[in-house]
Amino acid sequence: TITLIAALSLSYLTGSIPFGLLFSRMAGKDVRKEGSGNIGATNVNRVLGKKLGILTLFCDVVKGFLPVFVASIVLPVGEHWALFVGLCGLAAVLGHMFSIYLGFKGGKGVATALGVFLFFSPWSVAIALVVFVAVVGASGFVSAGSLAAAGLIPFFILLLGGSASIFLCSAVIAIMIWVKHSSNIGRLRRGEETSWKTKDSA
Ligand code: G3P
Repeated sequence: TITLIAALSLSYLTGSIPFGLLFSRMAGKDVRKEGSGNIGATNVNRVLGKKLGILTLFCDVVKGFLPVFVASIVLPVGEHWALFVGLCGLAAVLGHMFSIYLGFKGGKGVATALGVFLFFSPWSVAIALVVFVAVVGASGFVSAGSLAAAGLIPFFILLLGGSASIFLCSAVIAIMIWVKHSSNIGRLRRGEETSWKTKDSA
């Protein structure tokens, strides 16, 4: 139990690191005050350009992947191993969404979830990425692609033979991603969603 609590706490704390905000601060800006106000890679790209956007994406993916990877090694293999590793993934995503360093505010969890799902089921991620690229290409909005990919990935995981506990954890992650996109869903419905493109290239 101690190992599990430690693994969950460390996953949450790792997920909490707001890389997008840190990089924007280094560039002398606060992403929370510009664009969509989100701390994720999409908004960092929108406000500060491609380089910092990609760096944010990379770091946010790693902070999802690393906790589950470490948890899978540290947690004793037993009946509930997959569930516990899955819960560590959920903890990392919740860390990004409700960061302890930002007064329990945070981002939308897409990149961090990507890191978690990469560990659970890389093939599901590959299919979800195709969906993501297709929807972003067709709509022009990252949020639409995120919503479609997040909504479908639990089923891809299930179809590709994922266990019930991994399906459950990924479904909770997907629901949380949808909840966190409520402002995007509103903007999409009103036809007011903002492009992901940087100001100069838009
Ligand atoms: O991952 C977040 C993305 O789906 C939407 O970002 O900044 O357009 O709200 P943003």
